[in-house]
Amino acid sequence: MKRLFVDSDITSAETLPSFFYNDDEYFEASKQKIFSRSWQFACDSSLVRVAGQVAPCILLKDFLDEPVIFTRDQNDRVNCLSNVCTHRGNLLVEGNCVLHGLRCRYHGRKFTLDGKFMSMPEFEGVKNFPSSKDNLPGIPFDSWGPFMFASMRPVAPLQSFMDDMFQRMSWFGPGNLKVDSSRSKDYLVKCHWALYCENYLEGFHIPYVHNSLNDELDYGSYTTKLFPFSVLQTGYGKNSAGTFRDLPAGPGDKGSVSAFYYWIFPNLMFNFYPWGISVNVVTPLRKDLTRVSFISYVLDESLLGEGAGAELDKVEREDEAIVENVQKGIASGSYISGRYSPKRETGTHHFHRLICDFMND
Ligand code: FES
Ligand SMILES: [Fe+2]
Repeated sequence: MKRLFVDSDITSAETLPSFFYNDDEYFEASKQKIFSRSWQFACDSSLVRVAGQVAPCILLKDFLDEPVIFTRDQNDRVNCLSNVCTHRGNLLVEGNCVLHGLRCRYHGRKFTLDGKFMSMPEFEGVKNFPSSKDNLPGIPFDSWGPFMFASMRPVAPLQSFMDDMFQRMSWFGPGNLKVDSSRSKDYLVKCHWALYCENYLEGFHIPYVHNSLNDELDYGSYTTKLFPFSVLQTGYGKNSAGTFRDLPAGPGDKGSVSAFYYWIFPNLMFNFYPWGISVNVVTPLRKDLTRVSFISYVLDESLLGEGAGAELDKVEREDEAIVENVQKGIASGSYISGRYSPKRETGTHHFHRLICDFMND
């Protein structure tokens, strides 16, 4: 596999080469190199609120497909464990439940809720048994408000990936957020996952692609801030309608904010609006097909129809139409790479640089 290179100097840099999007090899390798080593949104923390609750989930379903379980054990501690029985690999837990311990229904192996091997029938005489290998492996995890995250082999703690969001948005009251499934929706987009993300990472296209969003946002004051593994774009309102009221003073917050758009490497977006948060999870399905799950966490329903967060479905369809065109362009033999606007595409440049770091490592 050829090494990827994007110059750190945006004024000299060329964008990621098209072979990254077009070659199956890079798509397959990104699973281990990018997605296993970053943090995935796993489930809602309400699933393990009381001791004994057990919640299975599949990390990045249909791509990473890692079966894990969250448990709250009898000591009131939350655990994240592999959901794979250490005997012959059966999945241990198939649905949310309340249990005293875990018992595999294939041959009866038992574990405690924090993953320790307890017992196994018909294993008399087996040498060096049980050993630590018979415990369920723990999976690194962490949480913020209702969001539980897990990672198979994180390059850094969750805090390093989301530090700015945790600090800047603590006033938002993440503990009060409630998932609203009726307003959540999946979109299938015919493009490479990275094309979807890099489109999200620049507001450059807003005046060209999103006419009604452009009526809300003041393009001139739109800002992009880069952090080690995340990017914050802030959209300021043309007027105060639909913007945050009582926004605390913080670094760079100039009032009349319509939306804080956080992207967390590689595939998570947390869009903060006065009504709540729209979380986007981007799942690669094929190198030219991507699922984008919109999950709504509502704080104040009365504000749902206002401002930059009002017409998310329309904005999404506008983005899909454009990135599906880009997919066709990238797949054609006539495009290799392009250049960046130093003023408007720092987020996309940062994303491409992170892809190079993770893929080359
Ligand atoms: S696979 Fe679980 S006990 Fe055999
Ligand atoms: Fe867009």
